[in-house]
Amino acid sequence: MFLQRRINFLNRMEDGDLALFPSAGLQIRNHDVHYPFRQQSDFWYLTGHNEPESLLMLAKGLEGFPSDTLFVLPKDLERETWEGVRLGPEGAKSKLEFEDSKPIEEMPSRVSLALEKASRLWYRLGGNSGIDTLVMETLADLQRRVRTGVTPPQAILDPTTLLHEHRLFKGDDELDCLRRAAAITEEGHRAVMALAKPGGTEFELEAALHWAFRRNGNGRGGWAYPSIVASGNNACVLHYTDNDGPLNDGDVVLVDAGAEYEGYAGDVTRCFPVNGSFSPAQRDVYEVVLAAQEAAIGKVVAGNPFCDIHNAALSTICEGLTTLGVVKGNPGAIEEEEKYRPWFMHNSSHWLGLDVHDAGSYHLDGSFRPLEPGMCLTVEPGLYFRADDESVPRELRGLGIRIEDDVLVTGQDTPDILSAGVPKTLEAVEQACASTEFIFPGEIPE
Ligand code: GLY
Ligand code: MN
Ligand code: MN
Repeated sequence: MFLQRRINFLNRMEDGDLALFPSAGLQIRNHDVHYPFRQQSDFWYLTGHNEPESLLMLAKGLEGFPSDTLFVLPKDLERETWEGVRLGPEGAKSKLEFEDSKPIEEMPSRVSLALEKASRLWYRLGGNSGIDTLVMETLADLQRRVRTGVTPPQAILDPTTLLHEHRLFKGDDELDCLRRAAAITEEGHRAVMALAKPGGTEFELEAALHWAFRRNGNGRGGWAYPSIVASGNNACVLHYTDNDGPLNDGDVVLVDAGAEYEGYAGDVTRCFPVNGSFSPAQRDVYEVVLAAQEAAIGKVVAGNPFCDIHNAALSTICEGLTTLGVVKGNPGAIEEEEKYRPWFMHNSSHWLGLDVHDAGSYHLDGSFRPLEPGMCLTVEPGLYFRADDESVPRELRGLGIRIEDDVLVTGQDTPDILSAGVPKTLEAVEQACASTEFIFPGEIPE
C-alpha cells in the first residue's frame, strides 16, 4: 500500500528528479518532556513510518541513488531503552519495503550529493526549517561552484499539489480506516449522550469521549482533533475547547468530536439536551438544522460541484430563519443579502481523511470542482444564537446547534454516510440520552 503510493508518485516524476518529504519532529512541552508525537500526514501516506527525525527521498534516474530511500533514527540500545524500539534501516527495508534505508546522520551528505545531480527538486519549502536550511545551503553552494561544471537543479516544484490530489481519492484500505474511525466516534457520542445530566460537567463528557476513542484505537488511536464539548451558550463559540463548564438543566450540549484510527479522522457533531428532553424551541431549531443537513447530504452526488453542498444547506437555513421568527422577509433575499451571517457564519463541508481538514484542492480552473466517487467529506451546517443576542426570540438565546456527518461520494445517486450510526433524529437522540448502557463509576469523594 505505502510502496504503491511511492510508485504512483515516482511515475509522475521525470528522469533527473529528486523529491524530499520530511517527517514530523518532536515538540518540547517542557524540559525533556514532549507533546505526543503525531506523524506528518504526507510522510505517513508515503512511508507508513511512525517515527520522528526521518526523511523520505525519492529519486528518478539519478545515478547512484535508488528510487526510494528512507533516512531513519538508527538502532541504539541505550536510546531505545529510554524512548522505545526504533525500526532502524534494516526494518525500514524489510517491513516498509524500501529499496534503501540509511541512518539519519547520513542524510545531509546524501541529500547534498543527490541535489548536485538532480535537474529538478520536488520539495515544499516552509514546512520544515531544518530541511529548508539544508536545501538552501546546498543550492547556494552549488551556485558558487558552477564554474567547476556543476549544474544546480533548475526548478523547485511543490509536491503537495500532486500528492494531495492522490490523497483526495480514498482507496479501499483507507475507507476501512475511515469507517472504523466513524464507528469508534459513534461509541464516544453514544457514551456522552447517556452520561450527561444536570449537575455534570463538560470535562467529564470530554473524558468519556476520549475513553471511547483511545480504548478502540488499536493502541495508537485517540482524538482526531481537540474535542468540543460546549453546553448552552458555549456552543456559540465555534472553536470552543475549554470544556470546563457545567451542564445546566434545560441546556443543549454541542459535541464536535472524532476518533482517529490508523491516522484517519472521524469528524462528527451532535447536539443533545442535558436533561434528556428537547424543549419546543430547541426542537424547532434542531429540525431546521437537520433539514439543512439532509438537503446538503442530498447534493453529495458525483458530478455536482462542491459548492452545491453549502448552497443547499444555506437555502434551507434561510427559510428556517424566517419560520423561527429570527428574520423577516423573503428567504431568497435573506440569502442574497447575507442576512443569515450572524447565526450561520461557517461553511458546510470540507474534505476528510488523514487530516480532519484533509488535503486536496476545492477548485479546478477557477470553479468549484465536481464531486467524484472516492472523495470523502463532512456535511455540517449549524445555527448559533448567543445569549446576549437581543435580536432573536428569547427562547432561542444561548443555543447552538450543528449536525455533522462523514460522507463518501459513491458512483450511485446517493452517498454513503460513514457516521450514519450516530443518533441523529430528535427521537434517536432522546433515546440515546435515556440509555443506561454506559455506566461510569461515581465521583471520588473530596
Ligand atoms: N471539528 C472541526 C470541524 O468540524 O471542521
Ligand atoms: Mn468538520
Ligand atoms: Mn467537526
